[in-house]
Amino acid sequence: MGADLESVLLTKEEIDAKLVELAGRIDQEYAGKDLLIVGVLKGAVMVMADLARTLSTPVTMDWMAVSSYGAGTQSSGVVRILKDLDTDIQGKHVLIVEDIIDSGLTLSWLISNLGSRGPASLKVCTLLRKPEAAKVAIDVEWVGFDIPNEFVVGYGLDFAEKYRNLPFVGTLAPHVYGG
Ligand code: XMP
Ligand code: MG
Repeated sequence: MGADLESVLLTKEEIDAKLVELAGRIDQEYAGKDLLIVGVLKGAVMVMADLARTLSTPVTMDWMAVSSYGAGTQSSGVVRILKDLDTDIQGKHVLIVEDIIDSGLTLSWLISNLGSRGPASLKVCTLLRKPEAAKVAIDVEWVGFDIPNEFVVGYGLDFAEKYRNLPFVGTLAPHVYGG
């Protein structure tokens, strides 16, 4: 572990096992249906790639990029679309795949934005959630892990664009973000 990381919160093995469990439950929900999974760039890249390969349900994949954070660690609540979906989701079963729900502001905005486009169904799967940080209540069907209210990196998650490629989820040492 590098000097910037304080501890490993979730190992690659724990993440892999959780994705198998989530994929099984998602497969049951969408049996016999066409499913579009929507990944939220950039953080959800790893969980999208691994979850998609763990599902038995055939899926199509699309991506959205939104911005609610700058280089810092605080949610602004202001969401901007940096890249919209390539596909029309009207009448489709859509599953939003997220890396992490922190305040929930980003996701709550995304749900109302995509919901207004007339999907047949709209549900959410997130690898991580910080219950103590919630500012809005969101109905999330599939949650991998509820974690403490600490800044985490790895497995897609960054601090100032670094650490996304770590195969595990770790907590940052306070000196890295000025703590
Ligand atoms: P909100 O607060 O709107 O945040 O739920 C959602 C987005 O903020 C990013 N985020 C994090 N990124 N470590 C990160 O690397 C964290 O601990 C963290 N908390 C929130 C993330 O992009 C998420 O989609
Ligand atoms: Mg994200």
